[in-house]
Amino acid sequence: MKNAVVIVAAGRGERLGGSGGPKQYRLLDRQCVLQHTIDCFTSHPEISAVQVVIHADDQDLYKSLIQTHNKLLPPVTGGKTRQASCKAGVDALGGEFQRVLIHDAARPFVSHAVTDNIIQGIQTNVCALPAIAIADTIKRAGKDLSVEETVSRDDLFLAQTPQGFILHEIKQAHQGAARETETEFTDDAAVGEWAGMTVSLVEGDRNNFKITTQQDLNAAQERINTMNTFADVRTGSGYDVHILGPGDGVILCGIKIPHNKSLQGHSDADVGLHALTDALLGTIGAGDIGSHFPPSDPKWKGAASDQFLAHAAMMVRDAGGTITNLDVTIVCEAPKVGPHRDVMRQKVAEICGIEDLTRISVKATTNEKVGFIGREEGIAALATASVSF
Ligand code: CTP
Ligand code: MG
Repeated sequence: MKNAVVIVAAGRGERLGGSGGPKQYRLLDRQCVLQHTIDCFTSHPEISAVQVVIHADDQDLYKSLIQTHNKLLPPVTGGKTRQASCKAGVDALGGEFQRVLIHDAARPFVSHAVTDNIIQGIQTNVCALPAIAIADTIKRAGKDLSVEETVSRDDLFLAQTPQGFILHEIKQAHQGAARETETEFTDDAAVGEWAGMTVSLVEGDRNNFKITTQQDLNAAQERINTMNTFADVRTGSGYDVHILGPGDGVILCGIKIPHNKSLQGHSDADVGLHALTDALLGTIGAGDIGSHFPPSDPKWKGAASDQFLAHAAMMVRDAGGTITNLDVTIVCEAPKVGPHRDVMRQKVAEICGIEDLTRISVKATTNEKVGFIGREEGIAALATASVSF
């Protein structure tokens, strides 16, 4: 199942006012609001593509402020209303995507947890949206601001984005609404409801607020300042060594390299993947590879080490972490690692579900012919993993 995200960013930000241009291009710290919003999704392993919808007048702003990314599709032009912009976004997505999450550019703090809730919600429902319970008492007032009624808040919720849909269903709903000139919908779930979809609520997040006024923009900057102060990035390290014995090749970072020897061990003896596995486990204090896959267990005899690393990556994700960088150094005299470096990086990326290859590094060095590595009795690997929470 491929999930795409549509980010609508074609509004004019009239309620924010001022002379600084549309709110989605205002700077929060060093990046504009829209860049923060895009990053929330390109960093999510289950999001394959991000389609931004912009105003025709903002093309230069977009080009100068938004960084390219392999998940980011070229922007399309929006319409006069939010609804029209959302329609342009979903219409631009091809049939390779089964599901779509539609999100406001003006909500730059959507967490992976909220995105996970939506992705999970649309496994079983046709539409899911993040909502938060209302904490304040609700009053209905007349034109002169005199209270007419206290409204029960028990079954009232505040709707947020991203709202998740089956792509072809929301496409059809938007097309139907446009055909019948139903143009007053303020969110996509309302378009879905109009088309007869069952819409379900999942847990939203108070931090996922929409920047509407100057006060909201100030609150967003404050939040960025706090996040910068308390950025929770953890680093783990890993080391492994295996003995070289008779054979016809070594497996390093999941790639078999022809050689006149082989690495000996209980599993496939892939020192690269073992060191990376330990580095990842180190970021969440989850012991080491031996505690999860004991060599005494016959189940792991000759096992491909992919599964060790995939398991560690899953544990990190389950703990709420996002892998921001993996770096491994292989220490050996031979075989030459350089020619295989890029396929190794791709393999590690694939195992860990990381799409951005710049986040993965494979390096190699010799041991200058000294010690057990220099005598080609073994190969060692050192790794670090950085994970943000
Ligand atoms: N949006 C859009 N196309 C429109 C109108 C709105 O893509 N024609 C987007 C906005 O860029 C924003 C989101 O929809 O990310 C939510 O809309 P809102 O907060 O109302 O933004 P603006 O319309 O820009 O602000 P205002 O209503 O104050 O002018
Ligand atoms: Mg608006």
